[in-house]
Amino acid sequence: MKNIISLLIVSVFISISAEAKEGMWIPILLKKYNIEEMQQMGFKLTAEDIYSVNEACMKDAVVIFGGGCTGELISDEGLLITNHHCGFGAIQKHSSVEHDYLTNGFWAKDKSEELINENLKVTFLKGMKDVTETVLGGLESDTEGRLDSIQNRIDKLVEEATKDSHYSAHIKPFFHGNQYFLFVNEVYKDVRLVGAPPSAIGKFGGDTDNWMWPRHTGDFSLFRIYANKDNEPAEYSKDNVPYKPLKHFPISLKGVKEGDFTMVFGYPGSTEQYVPAVHLKMITEQVNPALIDIRTQKLNIIKKYQETDPAVRIQYATKAARISNSWKRWIGEIKGLDKLNAIDKKEKYEASFQEWANDKDYANMLKDYQSIYKTYGEYKLAYNYLLEVVYRNGMEAVNLSSQFKKLKAAYDKDEIDIDEITKLKTDLEKRLTSFYKDYYKEIDKELTTIVLKMYKENLDERFHPDIYKYIDKKYKGNINKYVEALFSKSIFTNQEVTMAFAKNFSAKDVKKLDKDPAYQLFQSFYKTYGKTIVPKYKKLSAQVKDLNSQYMKAQMEFKSDAVFYPDANFTLRVSYGKVAGYEPKDGVVFKNHTTLNGIIEKDNPDIYDYRVPARLKELYYAKDFGQYESNGTVPVCFVATNHTTGGNSGSPVVNANGELIGVNFDRAWEGVMSDLMFNPEQCRNITLDIRYVLFLIDKFADAGYLLDEMTIVK
Ligand code: ARG
Ligand code: GLU
Repeated sequence: MKNIISLLIVSVFISISAEAKEGMWIPILLKKYNIEEMQQMGFKLTAEDIYSVNEACMKDAVVIFGGGCTGELISDEGLLITNHHCGFGAIQKHSSVEHDYLTNGFWAKDKSEELINENLKVTFLKGMKDVTETVLGGLESDTEGRLDSIQNRIDKLVEEATKDSHYSAHIKPFFHGNQYFLFVNEVYKDVRLVGAPPSAIGKFGGDTDNWMWPRHTGDFSLFRIYANKDNEPAEYSKDNVPYKPLKHFPISLKGVKEGDFTMVFGYPGSTEQYVPAVHLKMITEQVNPALIDIRTQKLNIIKKYQETDPAVRIQYATKAARISNSWKRWIGEIKGLDKLNAIDKKEKYEASFQEWANDKDYANMLKDYQSIYKTYGEYKLAYNYLLEVVYRNGMEAVNLSSQFKKLKAAYDKDEIDIDEITKLKTDLEKRLTSFYKDYYKEIDKELTTIVLKMYKENLDERFHPDIYKYIDKKYKGNINKYVEALFSKSIFTNQEVTMAFAKNFSAKDVKKLDKDPAYQLFQSFYKTYGKTIVPKYKKLSAQVKDLNSQYMKAQMEFKSDAVFYPDANFTLRVSYGKVAGYEPKDGVVFKNHTTLNGIIEKDNPDIYDYRVPARLKELYYAKDFGQYESNGTVPVCFVATNHTTGGNSGSPVVNANGELIGVNFDRAWEGVMSDLMFNPEQCRNITLDIRYVLFLIDKFADAGYLLDEMTIVK
């Protein structure tokens, strides 16, 4: 068998055990690169069972769910499962005080009760093809107008691929633009909510347990795809019928044990496996520590208010979850890379690369990286820091004021268009209402103060907006006093005033807007963003992108007998590995699965994240586990060595027979550096055991009728 070494430096220095298989592989190339090894690891099916051009196969049962998750078909009536955190937006939209589906869960008793979701779509892959030759053929890296030529060729290919069909198509670069693949998709637009457990199950453990093992989150929700009478995509209509998929996953109740083969089939979003050591340095020493700090401050402020006021806890729950998710991953990533000596490994690898490259065109590449990263790091930090301060749950009212820009622009026009203005006002009022629903002024005041201070302290003076000069002059540099004044004077810190301002906005209000201190603060940052930061950051990013493309090519020549897997780019990929516990630190061994017992152990009515629903406790104490029982309890989650990342949420996890054994939803904290470097000892994806899902549907929710349409293998 061809020796598969991924370029990843880890594999050069650490011997990969048979259980761990790094990589996110391209479905149409499995036969060439992977299937033999997969079968040696226990897989019983063929490459065509996963991806086939002509026959129904697994790929026909996997979808992009919404914009950033994966989902899979589990019945021949279009029933689909994904994560609770992927369906969250839809569940939330249907929730109200009378019908609080987030808190209580939701179960359609039959198809007529399923809930329609505007703007929710699922995307099937109809086919993919390597089009590198057509896109790049005859173009040298220094050909004039190269990028335009590439774009023209891509446009033409896409047009051809979709001619006379309702399919859509796009082309994505792989290996940093050294290969191109065409994807033809079919998008269904009538996707209805079928069921979701209460958040106390679907989000059990909350941010406390997020990215952590051992885990007990029942992270799933159910939807159904509808089609027109010809089984084709259609906008919502009551005449639509359940979609008949070419293939759906059979579900196994047999469970898995240590060492069993597993495969994840889904849409990993983005990884950076082939970057140079300077990139890791930038991430771990310069950019992420600063972003972690500012988010720590934000979270501390929010938490302080959440702890004393349950209403604020609800208001800021989604915001805190959003801030916390990347924050926690970044922290884990730095630790993981450090433990792996990742920078050192990359540097050693680069030394041997350099030796090889010395007499080639690639001789200066690493030096080029060194010199560009000095400035690139500064600008990447400035760019992201400004986003943290202004946009990403930073200064809330200040950011909100920018929503009035369009209205202002409409009045600044020579000819005022009343229809446009009416529409803008209606949109704006909607936005304001939803903004203030989750707005707490005291939090925002503290956030605004702290982020303004941190920005000043942590970024070089050339990135400071003019507003700091004004604060120096008018408030002797006292940011507290400045913010205090801003919050008492600005329109935008008060809901009623702002709503009225929007409603009655007329030409004379343009001046009022310009004079508002929150709007002025926004404008000042916006100017720095648009003039000082973005143009240069974009230029540097383009240079880095170009270098990455060349460096990728060089590395593939350098290790010419290795098989490379491309960085994740939100295209359908296969990851495979084995069920395996791990040792997170000295003296600690983690098992590969958790059970209902652990949920009962964590139960604590005083801790919001650990409140176990009474019904679940009843079932536990009555030992009413039905056919989902294993060793006197119900299995809840398990870990395996599949290489996954964000976007893999909701992905099917299948066993050696291709039967669904769970739904992927997270990674374990010790291994989240796998986006940059995979460590087979520590990297684990976390899967929700399908037996817990069925137990919840059947016993907890009394929605067992849903099981009738599934194909359950006992
Ligand atoms: N860490 C998982 C992911 O990246 C789950 C995120 C949602 N859950 C949360 N507690 N924030 O998507
Ligand atoms: N929760 C992530 C998602 O939404 C998956 C976790 C990961 O990054 O692996 O895709």
